Amino acid sequence: MQTFVNVFLGFFIFEFVGAAPITDTIIYDSEFYNIPFGELPHAFAFDENKQSDEVETEIGTELPSVIQESYSSAPSTEETEDEASTPKLIDGSSAQGSGVLGPQTQDDLPTCLLCTCLGTTVYCDDRELDAVPPLPKKTTYFYSRYNRIRKISRNDFANLNHLKRIDLTANFISEIHKDAFRRLPQLQELVLRDNRIRQLPELPSTLTFIDVSKNRLGRRGIPNEAFKNLDELQHLYITDNNLDHIPLPLPESLQALHLQNNNIQEMHEDTFCKMRDFTYVRRALEDIRLDGNPINLSKTPYAYMCLPRLPVGNLI
Ligand SMILES: *[C@@H]1O[C@H](CO)[C@@H](O)[C@H](O)[C@H]1NC(C)=O
Repeated sequence: MQTFVNVFLGFFIFEFVGAAPITDTIIYDSEFYNIPFGELPHAFAFDENKQSDEVETEIGTELPSVIQESYSSAPSTEETEDEASTPKLIDGSSAQGSGVLGPQTQDDLPTCLLCTCLGTTVYCDDRELDAVPPLPKKTTYFYSRYNRIRKISRNDFANLNHLKRIDLTANFISEIHKDAFRRLPQLQELVLRDNRIRQLPELPSTLTFIDVSKNRLGRRGIPNEAFKNLDELQHLYITDNNLDHIPLPLPESLQALHLQNNNIQEMHEDTFCKMRDFTYVRRALEDIRLDGNPINLSKTPYAYMCLPRLPVGNLI
């Protein structure tokens, strides 16, 4: 674990010194699938190893999870996922973690002892956290992946007016207060992948990137018109959630919609296009993934007329 921290921090500091924006450890663009595994950055390799361990435990394959996600059509079962991830978190923890955390205070100092603060980035991955720690007011990027956070309360992110990215991948979050993210004036990227979320909270209209894949949104977890007013939203990832419908309406700005491994059975001709306006073109939306759903895309041939590319899914 210590080796990872060093390797990661090396990568992290390199990024920081280079004044580049903090790069993501999960790469979503389709170009990624062509990159040979050995050429991936260290941080990415770490996350993948960790996830591929889980995949091995779950279904006995050595496919890395990204590849798993893109090619498998079998929905993963939630139960085995939980069993597999729990010991993983305990296993990867440091002994002194909870001792340093101690009682929560409003003071900024303990958070930056427990986590790593570099500039305005607070980096708390894999620290056995049970809750979001109090964050410095100027925090811009907050990473808290591989922890044990169960709940996001109303004031966890209160007054963090500079916050642009929240990444809470791989926690145990089942409850999010509906206003927890709403008053974050600069929030652009919200990553809640691999949790137990049943209900999406209110989302700020500044978001450009949302990933709530591998949660439990099911039939009712996404409120009506949840994404309607997100005028800047470009990437929306809701794979592996047992969704039974495509959330509508989708903002014009949307470029990528990933809905693999859900339970979507039908689509309407108006889902993406406008049946009454054949001149309408939805230019931005180039990447729609519906594979791993019990839907026959051949049944709605007119539903894709306005799109630059056909969705990926069953054309049988
Ligand atoms: C899918 O839809 C097409 C067009 O309606 C139909 O010809 C085909 O039999 C369907 N396939 C399945 C597996 O239902």
